[in-house]
Amino acid sequence: MDYQKFLSARSKARNPSAIRALMPYMNCKDMISLGAGQPNPQTFPFAGMSIKLKSGETIEVDSDLFQRSLSYDLTTGLPPLNQWLRDLQVREHAPPVDFDLTIGPGSQDLLTKALEMFCEPGHALLAEKPTYTGALSFLETQPVDLVPVATDEHGIVPESLEEVLANWPESNPSGKKDQPRPSVIYTVPVGGNPTGVSATLERKQKAYEVCRKYDVLIVEDDPYYYLQFGAKRTPSYFSMDTDGRVLRLDSMSKILSSGIRLGWATGPKVLLDRMNMHTMVTNLQPAGVTQLMAYELLNRWGVDGFMQHVDKVSAFYKEKRDMFVECLDRHLKGLAEWAVPDSGMFVWINLLGGITDSFDLVLSKAVKNKVIAVPGVAFMPLKDATPYIRVSYSAVTYEQMDEALRRLAIVIREAAAENHVGNGNGINGTNGTNGTNGVNGTNGVNGTH
Ligand SMILES: Cc1ncc(COP(=O)(O)O)c(C=O)c1O
Repeated sequence: MDYQKFLSARSKARNPSAIRALMPYMNCKDMISLGAGQPNPQTFPFAGMSIKLKSGETIEVDSDLFQRSLSYDLTTGLPPLNQWLRDLQVREHAPPVDFDLTIGPGSQDLLTKALEMFCEPGHALLAEKPTYTGALSFLETQPVDLVPVATDEHGIVPESLEEVLANWPESNPSGKKDQPRPSVIYTVPVGGNPTGVSATLERKQKAYEVCRKYDVLIVEDDPYYYLQFGAKRTPSYFSMDTDGRVLRLDSMSKILSSGIRLGWATGPKVLLDRMNMHTMVTNLQPAGVTQLMAYELLNRWGVDGFMQHVDKVSAFYKEKRDMFVECLDRHLKGLAEWAVPDSGMFVWINLLGGITDSFDLVLSKAVKNKVIAVPGVAFMPLKDATPYIRVSYSAVTYEQMDEALRRLAIVIREAAAENHVGNGNGINGTNGTNGTNGVNGTNGVNGTH
């Protein structure tokens, strides 16, 4: 594939940093470096590292690797961890074409670098509606227009993607008739943040074919991939990518720790080289010590141990999901609608009772009633008002979710009653059930993600 046409002028203009380009040679046997200004590790106070696991085991970290992790190192991450993750990608996704891999400080860092690479001023970029608010917050700072693609309880709607691309520029929501047809789509295919639902294999296959037809690159942001609740994980876009049009992002945040800030990008080498050049002039590399911490654990576990761990994590969230849905049924039936999440940690809730915009309800009424949810507008590519809210069951106990939803029910009932008095559109009014946004939403209950 010719990737040049997808790249922004800014991305193309990046050159390797002279010092960073020498990094791969630094650890070569017999090399004497008078080059990079490496601080002398003898001056560092840290002598070694051991990691205590909840299993009771202790890992004594390899001392050479520990010393190495204290210094500047490769832009693409600690080599043994990079190799471990490559092996994981091959085993899990068996990608049909060659790929490269780079590690970053969380997938958010790599995601923004990936998206920025495609943000040519005046161009348009495809994004699901609703989508991850963290991606939207970044894209709002970029000189591009967003073009929403519909989703429902089975994930992306390929027909919506086809419709947008086939009818361009008439389908362009910005109304700009001379804007080039979008050539990149940003998608969260599993455990959608905010929807909690995943694209089925059939949907993915169809969407991939549409992208082939119109030569569209796919940015597959998949931090919830290992949190699928079904017996088998649905294959990724990366696994079906015979063209080299998928740039995939993975994260350790939901499965090992979000604080160690570790994510990895896999995809065509040309694109990853561009992202690495971005890293060379920004954060230089992911942090060595947390990479080593993860590597020592993963190396001890092996891929089989990692798979056992992620199975346990997804079973944990599945149990939470079940409890949450039980509480939803008890408190919100008739007041709201939702699709039962098949993965991840979110539920995207459509508030009934004539509520057309959840913003005020969440930020004043719900907060006053001591319950936090995220208003759906945060997840809308074009910031349209929506009755949806995102809630998360990840970090609450059964008692807390039960009480939170009881409080939320009171707030919805009150808002619906006000609507009823105001315009005759109460709970049983004509305005209730199906919003235009289906399962599409924004950004959850807890914190900013
Ligand atoms: C869809 C999505 N992408 C990316 C991220 C960022 O993850 P990380 O912690 O790896 O930076 C999140 C975090 O919530 C997310 O939900």
